[in-house]
Amino acid sequence: MTRIIAFTNQKGGVGKTTSVLNVGAALAKKGKKVLMIDLDPQGNLTQSLLPEPPKNTIFTLLLEECKFGEAIVNTTENLLLIPCNNKFANFERQFAADADSQYIMVDFIEAIKKNFPNQLDFIIFDTPPALGLITLNALVACQEVYIPMNSQEYSLTGLNAVIEVVERVKKRTNPDLEVKGMFFSRHNSRKYITRNMVEHLNSEFPNKLMNTHIRVNVALEESPSLRQSVFDYDPSSNGAKDYSDLTDEIIKL
Ligand SMILES: Nc1ncnc2c1ncn2[C@@H]1O[C@H](COP(=O)(O)OP(=O)(O)OP(=O)(O)O)[C@@H](O)[C@H]1O
Ligand SMILES: [Mg+2]
Repeated sequence: MTRIIAFTNQKGGVGKTTSVLNVGAALAKKGKKVLMIDLDPQGNLTQSLLPEPPKNTIFTLLLEECKFGEAIVNTTENLLLIPCNNKFANFERQFAADADSQYIMVDFIEAIKKNFPNQLDFIIFDTPPALGLITLNALVACQEVYIPMNSQEYSLTGLNAVIEVVERVKKRTNPDLEVKGMFFSRHNSRKYITRNMVEHLNSEFPNKLMNTHIRVNVALEESPSLRQSVFDYDPSSNGAKDYSDLTDEIIKL
């Protein structure tokens, strides 16, 4: 069984890409075979893994301009990436009129599974900061949603919007879908407001708050520009510890 996961929040800069990068790397280090799919036209995940802009991407694959083998990159052992670039901003224009425009990623995942039979333990989507057709496709194709949140700019309205979309997709198209966990991705445990939020979230969304929160950590900020996961950049950092712990929790869920 391949677990298919999306890190989603329509709010920008809340740690989606950082989470995909480092949970992906942690899973791979723990011996899982992982495919990360960059679905964000900003291409931040891709840029933090590849030295050169990719010729082939999720978009050229979907347009059948290339084969799987030409687009999938083996970044490190057990860790594969399907890259993205800004051309993917044309996804809606290209596919929105199709009757099955919500199911493009479902079909794509089926094709991946055929190409990698029994080989992948995890497929992880990085999604853009919007609840448009791209994110909808990820939600229809995945089983598990994790929501990174920024405790400094926390807004319940934003959070409710993600959860409402997940519930709608679950009800109409993907009954397997579930919000598995929420976590703070830049946690400052000394701040009172954060403790207050933890209590609030626990009562509003019971059993959804992960035990691990990611502390504010400079290694997490610096590592992407050197195209390293936090585990390669500074394995003794708080960032490495927290993402390792979060990943252990995800494995057990
Ligand atoms: N725990 C942390 N400590 C310090 N910096 C962090 C931490 N987590 C993320 N960052 C930094 O915050 C910025 C935003 O993070 P990231 O790119 O992961 O967010 P995002 O949700 O993917 O953003 P977007 O919505 O634009 O895709 C990045 O510069 C990242 O390096
Ligand atoms: Mg991002």
